[in-house]
Amino acid sequence: MSAVLSIDKLNKRFGGVVVADDIDLQLGAGEVLGLIGPNGAGKTTLFNLISGVIAADAGNISLGGKRLDSLPVYRRARHGVARTWQHMRLFNSMSVLDNLLIAASSYPGESFWRLIAAGGSVKAAEARNREKAHAILTRMGLAPLAHTNVADITFGQQKLIGMARALMSESPLLLLDEPMAGVEGSAYETMRQIVAEEAASGRAICVVEHNVSFIRALCTSAIFMVRGRIIERGGVEALLESRALAELYFGK
Ligand SMILES: Nc1ncnc2c1ncn2[C@@H]1O[C@H](COP(=O)(O)OP(=O)(O)O)[C@@H](O)[C@H]1O
Ligand SMILES: [Mg+2]
Repeated sequence: MSAVLSIDKLNKRFGGVVVADDIDLQLGAGEVLGLIGPNGAGKTTLFNLISGVIAADAGNISLGGKRLDSLPVYRRARHGVARTWQHMRLFNSMSVLDNLLIAASSYPGESFWRLIAAGGSVKAAEARNREKAHAILTRMGLAPLAHTNVADITFGQQKLIGMARALMSESPLLLLDEPMAGVEGSAYETMRQIVAEEAASGRAICVVEHNVSFIRALCTSAIFMVRGRIIERGGVEALLESRALAELYFGK
């Protein structure tokens, strides 16, 4: 069986700075890969390369055996890359529910011509998206906030909405960029549980996170990245205890 995500010799530099240095990576269904490394290591850049926000200089990225690197972002979303953003990109003056509906993987109402051509099926698709959004919000305990503006909910709740937006797509691959940063209390517990459930349901998940207890609780393996290069990979405990990580990451 082929991996959900397969990356082969991926390279990228910004000017003179190497941000992806011969990266090889395989990720299977149900796996949760922790991506650890100091600021500027290239973690977010790797997500940008996978989701097609930026183009690689060299190398291949495949999803379920299908080459992604020649496809633009909107086609990649259709081929199954969902992600969250380190710096949330929510629409603050819109409701929680509308933020989810906008993120729906195919939102037929967005196309004027499709709307003209198929009014009825568009309505049905929108109804399905609404149902799905409500189900996700209910899972997160946020259903009562569906009609509240995003600006009026807590930071932790906003991070959950970022996650909820990613879950609107059925994509087999989920990229989470620092989902726990600044999240505490019940939002932390909800996020932890949602990630665990999504992995159990068979999604392949790659998560950038500095929160060690989160990585310990959820990741099935981890990689340690410095200056665009994977310098260690393996089991979570072994990696967290490695000397390279202690020296470079925690400054010990
Ligand atoms: N679009 C870009 N153009 C130029 N340099 C960038 C761009 N995006 C990121 N960088 C640089 O690439 C390096 C890696 O950044 P990033 O991937 O955001 O690191 P991380 O997420 O590991 O903290 C940094 O030096 C950053 O300044
Ligand atoms: Mg980052």
